Amino acid sequence: MTQSLTIRRPDDWHLHLRDGAMMRAVLPLSAEHFTRAIIMPNLVPPVVTAQDARAYRDRIRAALPARADFTPLMTLYLTENTNPDDVQKAHAEGLITALKLYPAGATTNSASGVSDFSKVDAVLERMTALGLPLCTHGEVTDPAVDIFDREAVFIERVLDPIRQRHPDLRVVMEHITTSDAVDYVLASKGNLAATITTHHLVINRNHILAGGIRPHYYCLPVAKRETHRLALRAAATSGDARFFLGTDSAPHKDANKLLPCGCAGCFTAPNTLSILAEVFEQDGALDKLEAFTSLNGPAYYGLPVNDATLTLIRETPSFPSRIDTDDGPVTVFDPDMDLHWKVAP
Ligand code: NCD
Ligand code: ZN
Repeated sequence: MTQSLTIRRPDDWHLHLRDGAMMRAVLPLSAEHFTRAIIMPNLVPPVVTAQDARAYRDRIRAALPARADFTPLMTLYLTENTNPDDVQKAHAEGLITALKLYPAGATTNSASGVSDFSKVDAVLERMTALGLPLCTHGEVTDPAVDIFDREAVFIERVLDPIRQRHPDLRVVMEHITTSDAVDYVLASKGNLAATITTHHLVINRNHILAGGIRPHYYCLPVAKRETHRLALRAAATSGDARFFLGTDSAPHKDANKLLPCGCAGCFTAPNTLSILAEVFEQDGALDKLEAFTSLNGPAYYGLPVNDATLTLIRETPSFPSRIDTDDGPVTVFDPDMDLHWKVAP
C-alpha cells in the first residue's frame, strides 16, 4: 500500500477569495497547499477593468501570510461594456490570465454579466488574437429551462455558437457538472478544456435534497444525478490533459447559507487535497492525481509547472467543521466519507 505520495505543488484554476475579512481568513488556507490560483472576479462591485484587477491583486498580496509562496492569477469580469483595448493592455502588462464570462444572473454576484452574447464578440476576437483564455460559467438563465438542464442547454445555445464564431478562442468550461460537458470537451480540439471541482466528484443531487435539505451542499452549477458524477470522476481520474482542478471554493458565512433563500457555494479550500487523494485512490488512479492538480492546468495556460513539491501521507487528517472569520463562521465542506490522506506539514 502506498504510504506517501509526492507531487508537484498544485494550482487551483478557479477560486473565490472574496475581499476584506473573509479574504484574510480564507487566503492562508489556499496558500498553504496551492502555489497559484485563478481568482474569480465576482466581487461587489465586480473586477471589470485593469485598474480593478491591479487593486484587487495588491489587496490579495497584502493579505498573504509572510512566508507564503502564492501567486494570484487575476481575471476580468466580462461585461457587455468591456473594452478590448483595456483587455489588451492588462494582458500586455502581465496583469491578467483570463476573462470570466457569467451569463447575467446565473450565479452569486453575476448581475453585471452578459445577456446578449453577440455584444462581446469584439472582445472575444481580441482575446483570440492574444491567446487569452475565456473561462465560462456554463449555465443558461432562461427560467423556462430546468435548473438541472442549464449546463447542457448552455453548451448548445451559447457556448457552441460562440466557438463557431471564434473557433480559435481558448475556452475553459468552469466547474463542469454533467456528462454532456465531459463529452463536449472530449469531442473538441485542443483549445477547449474544463475544470472540475472537488465537491462535484463527491456529491450528487441526493446529498442536497434526500432526507432533508442540506444548504452547505448547494452550489452552482448544482450537483446533478449520479451518472453525471461518475462521468466527472472518469474524466478527472483519466489523466486527460483537458481536465484539471478548479476547486470553486466559494466561502459564504453560515448566516448567508442558512436562509430561506441561501447563497450558493461550497467551501473546500482546507480539505480539498485530502478529499482528492481519497477519490483518486478509490478509483485506483492515485498515479493520475498529479496530472489533475498540478500538470494539466499549467500546460493549458502555457505556464511552467511549479518547482516545489507537496507530499501527501497516509494518515487520518482532521479539519474543523467550520472556520471563524471576522464576518462570522464559514462551514467547511463535509465529504461525508472517511479520509485517509493528509498533506505533510
Ligand atoms: C460561486 C460564488 O459563491 O461566488 N458560487 C458557487 O456556487 N459556485 C459563484 C460561482 O462560481 O458560480
Ligand atoms: Zn466559482
